[in-house]
Parts: sequence; C-alpha cells; structure tokens
Amino acid sequence: MTDSTFIRRVILRSYKSIARCDITLRPLTYLVGQNGAGKSNFLDALHFVRDALTGTLDNALSERGGLDEVRRRSSGHPNHVSIQLDLRLNDGRTALYAFKIGALPNGSYEVQSEQCAIGGLGQGPYYKIERGNLVQSSEATFPAVTPDRLALVAASGLTVFRPIYDALTAMGFYNLNPKVMRELQKPQDGRLLKPVGENIASVVHHLKRSAPQQLDLINEYLRTVVPMIQSMERKAVGPMETLEFRQAVAGAKHPWRFLAQNMSDGTLRALGVLTALLQGNADYSPSLIAIEEPETALHPAASGALREVLNQVAKKNQVLVTSHSPDLLDDMDIDADSIVAVISEEGATKLAPLDQASRDMLRQHLFSVGELLRMNQLAPDRAALDAQLKPQPDFFFEGE
Ligand SMILES: Nc1ncnc2c1ncn2[C@@H]1O[C@H](COP(=O)(O)OP(=O)(O)OP(=O)(O)O)[C@@H](O)[C@H]1O
Ligand SMILES: [Mg+2]
Repeated sequence: MTDSTFIRRVILRSYKSIARCDITLRPLTYLVGQNGAGKSNFLDALHFVRDALTGTLDNALSERGGLDEVRRRSSGHPNHVSIQLDLRLNDGRTALYAFKIGALPNGSYEVQSEQCAIGGLGQGPYYKIERGNLVQSSEATFPAVTPDRLALVAASGLTVFRPIYDALTAMGFYNLNPKVMRELQKPQDGRLLKPVGENIASVVHHLKRSAPQQLDLINEYLRTVVPMIQSMERKAVGPMETLEFRQAVAGAKHPWRFLAQNMSDGTLRALGVLTALLQGNADYSPSLIAIEEPETALHPAASGALREVLNQVAKKNQVLVTSHSPDLLDDMDIDADSIVAVISEEGATKLAPLDQASRDMLRQHLFSVGELLRMNQLAPDRAALDAQLKPQPDFFFEGE
C-alpha cells in the first residue's frame, strides 16, 4: 500500500500560541487536547502556508490580524515566525519547504529567509533566499524576488518547482458551518470545497459530472449517518443554487424533498464533512484534508461510520482531524502513533506523541483512546517535549 502522507514533519517557531513544535504526522492523525490548548492554531499554521501561496503573504497575514497576531505573544517577544515542512510529493520524492517571517521596526514585515528543496538537499531542484536576495539555486534563471512575498509563488512558474507548489496549495482546511450551507449559494468553482462549506452546492454539481461514483459514496455514507436521507443533489433556484435532499417518510409513496434550508444542523454538517473527505476526483485530489471536530452535532452512534470514512480516505489523502470526542476515538484499532496530544502550559502550546503509560494501556487493549480521553489520561510524552526544546540541527533556521 502506498503511504498517503504528504506532510511528514512540521517544525514551528512562534506561531500563535506555539512557541516550538516538532512533530511527525501520519496518513491519519488526530490532534487531541482541551479547549484552548492550541489544536486549531497548529492547523492554522498549515492553512497559513496555503493562503500565503494561493494569494499573497500580505493577505494571509492581514486575514489573521497582521504579523503581531500571528507571531507568538510572550515576554521574550520573539519577532519572527518560522515554519518548516518536510514533505513527500506524489511521485515519491521527498521535499522541504521552509520560511521565516520577521517584523521590521516600521511595523511591517519581511521574509527573512525561504528555502525549497526537492529530492534531498543539493540533489534536486532547490533555492535559498535571504531578505529578497537569491543566495543559492539549482536553476540557471530564477524569477525576481521581493522580501514581502514568498518566492515559491513566482518559482512555481518554473516546471521543476511546480509539483511542490501544487501540492501545498491543494491542502483543504475545514470547519463546516451548517448555517452557511443552508443559505442559497452563488454558482462558483466547485473543484475544491471551501472552508465552511460555502460552495457545497457547486462541489456536489461538479462531482456529479466529474466523479459520480464519489457522489454515490457521499450519499451512501450520509445514509449510514442519517438513515432517513435517501440522497441529495444540487438544485438551481433562479440565479442561485442549493442542495435538495430526498427523505423517506413512512406511509408516503414518494420521498419528500427538502431544500438545505430545512435540513438539520447535524445532517448538513455530516454532509459537509463527507464532502470534504470524499471530494477527490480526476481534476483535483487534496494533498491533505484537515477537519476541525468532524463529530460536532453528530449522534454518537454515527461515530463508527465517520471513523470508517476517515480510515478509508486516509489511504489516499492525508487526513488531519482535531477532536474532543471520546466516541469518535473509542476504537481499539486506533493506534497510539496516530494521536498527537496537545496541551497548554504557561501560556504555550505543546504538541507531542502519547506518553509511555498511555501507550502501554492502549497496547494491552485495556482501554481505547476514547476511554483514556474520557478519563483525562491522554498525556504527551515528556521526553519528546523536552527534546523539542533542544536545538534541532536539521531545522533550517536553527542558530541563525
Ligand atoms: N499570537 C498569539 N500568541 C500567544 N497565544 C495565542 C496567540 N494567538 C492565539 N493564542 C492563544 O491560542 C488560544 C486558542 O488556541 P486554539 O484556538 O488553537 O485552541 P483549540 O485547541 O483549537 O481549542 P478548542 O478545542 O476550544 O477549539 C487562545 O486561547 C490564545 O490564548
Ligand atoms: Mg479549535
């Protein structure tokens, strides 16, 4: 079986509440921790990379309130944010993408350094940029670089850097909102579901034409979560569009039809989660699908079906999930390595694999991850946390 892991390792410095982090990710990773621990901030660091590459760095920062909100607030006042991602591309090559953004005295910011290397350092295409200057590159010609932008945007014009750009911009981040999914939507690009489900009718329409088998699968799983729903499809309403659901009703000869406007929160959220996970088609397959609390508004009995979809999808696309749900995690087959424990200590978010005591209990099948969560017994490994505080020689910006 091929491994769907796209992001293998994430190293962060001073991203929001995360002072330091160095963790590895799996095909399916669950981020588990209390409210406010920093799970969403971790996902947001990855989302930030995508936003800065699809639009501009300026936009990605200002959407988040500016660099001052993005960098970590602390007494030490670090004045920069660094992100390093170790990746595996579709063709099996490993790759690295890293950048560091620093605040300038005049209140603005600059990209202090940026590095990209595909297929091992010095063995494939690479470049290194410092404060708007290209200092190393495998390529004879390189587009103009400015310190207020990520150079990968322009470098994606070169065929050799295109695969890493395409993969990083093909990450999907979801926090589905039934209220938005219920409103009439403007027909738009439906190749990739947007973060809160604002284009779900267009995505369903696009899937019907490009990958009807995926739409069937979505309908099938939707039925296991909400048994009375028979199917759903896109429906045009004047210049707008929405979803129409068919619902079996005892005694009625034909199923009743309901527009999204009249569907329950849980049904819409479940549909959004299923669409986020199963939207891959010939035109587009997400490199990573990150979903915030997919179990929200779902009945505990639906957790098994949701877990099954997560497992199935993770064979093809890397999946990252934040969760508080003992029900979702109540499965003896969930492996200790797929859990990242997130805690907040002295105002800093810390992320690490589970400690030995939790692992032993899981290995001996004494409890499931969900049961440990319910007992508040999922603890991060202290030694792994301490190791993250030591300088990491393979972190690009270490010691700079
Ligand atoms: N720039 C920053 N510097 C330091 N801390 C920050 C910064 N921005 C946000 N935070 C902290 O991050 C916390 C929120 O973290 P986050 O939203 O990731 O939590 P979460 O684990 O997703 O929680 P929930 O389960 O409730 O969604 C805030 O309470 C705030 O204290
Ligand atoms: Mg959150």
